[in-house]
Amino acid sequence: MRELMNEDGWELHGPLEGRTIGRVVESRADALPVGAIVFHRQAWRTHSIVTADGANVLPDFEGVPLSAHLSILGGTGLSAWVGLTRVARLQADETIFISAAAGGVGTAAGRIARLLGAGRIIGSTGSAAKAAHLTEHVGFDAAFDYHDGPIADRLREAAPDGLHVYLDNVGGEHLEAAIDVMRDYGRIAWCGAVAQYNTPLDPPPAPRNLYDVVGRSLRLEGFLVRNNLDARPELYDFLVPHLRSGAVVPDETIVDGFDRVVEAFLGVLTGANTGKMIVRIGD
Ligand SMILES: NC(=O)c1ccc[n+]([C@@H]2O[C@H](COP(=O)([O-])OP(=O)(O)OC[C@H]3O[C@@H](n4cnc5c(N)ncnc54)[C@H](OP(=O)(O)O)[C@@H]3O)[C@@H](O)[C@H]2O)c1
Repeated sequence: MRELMNEDGWELHGPLEGRTIGRVVESRADALPVGAIVFHRQAWRTHSIVTADGANVLPDFEGVPLSAHLSILGGTGLSAWVGLTRVARLQADETIFISAAAGGVGTAAGRIARLLGAGRIIGSTGSAAKAAHLTEHVGFDAAFDYHDGPIADRLREAAPDGLHVYLDNVGGEHLEAAIDVMRDYGRIAWCGAVAQYNTPLDPPPAPRNLYDVVGRSLRLEGFLVRNNLDARPELYDFLVPHLRSGAVVPDETIVDGFDRVVEAFLGVLTGANTGKMIVRIGD
């Protein structure tokens, strides 16, 4: 969303789009009956007019909180799933590093990696409190505050035998550090680059060690979740039983009130959230 603002993606003074869940209050479409709970992309509005093509009735997974469809079962969790399974092809017992680990994609990736049998899961985040949250509540084996000295040094301490996989949500120095610490034939799934969204005219330098990708036979592959929407049934099959049993809890920061939507959005760019940032404007 932040990137679209750099790229003339949105009309000035128009309401912004985004992912949302709502209840149908009035309908002329048989596919969207009144009362149905739907997912659509016309957020930053209290009420939206959608077409039957532009909204999906959400599956009713009894025992799973609705908000999960915006977090670990939504595009956020799907990004983590695709990055780990399709792009990085994480294997049991492997060591994985996840950046922006306390955010929406990061927490989902940590939980999914654990369920996939990862050996050691390491995360970076913006404060000591969030790092402690990751190890105490999300199932990470180690986590560090990326303000705390060179990232490559923190990573080497946390992964003395090197990394098999890196899920990159940050870019810049994080990516350079991960390349430094990757094992031969390691795989990097590049999901995002939050370190550069606010400074589009002055992005951090590309990793200076990029050529190590050749020397150590690494694979660095970017991906977009929207090109992998066919993976959603896999994600549902994999996660819904764990959500129902309570073994997995969606990680979310809930902000109440439509008038706080801008504050919530800006908060994602400064680390105000743990897990997916969600604005709640109704019950
Ligand atoms: N490829 C795709 O299709 C796809 C789909 C969804 C999301 N994404 C990308 O995935 C990443 C995570 O998205 P999300 O929606 O789950 O957001 P998020 O992780 O919930 O929020 C972003 C987090 O990034 C951290 N951050 C902010 N500025 C930073 C900086 N300069 N350096 C390091 N960390 C910083 C903040 O936490 P700290 O306190 O830890 O700093 C913040 O909580 C983003 O880069 C996003 O663009 C890609």
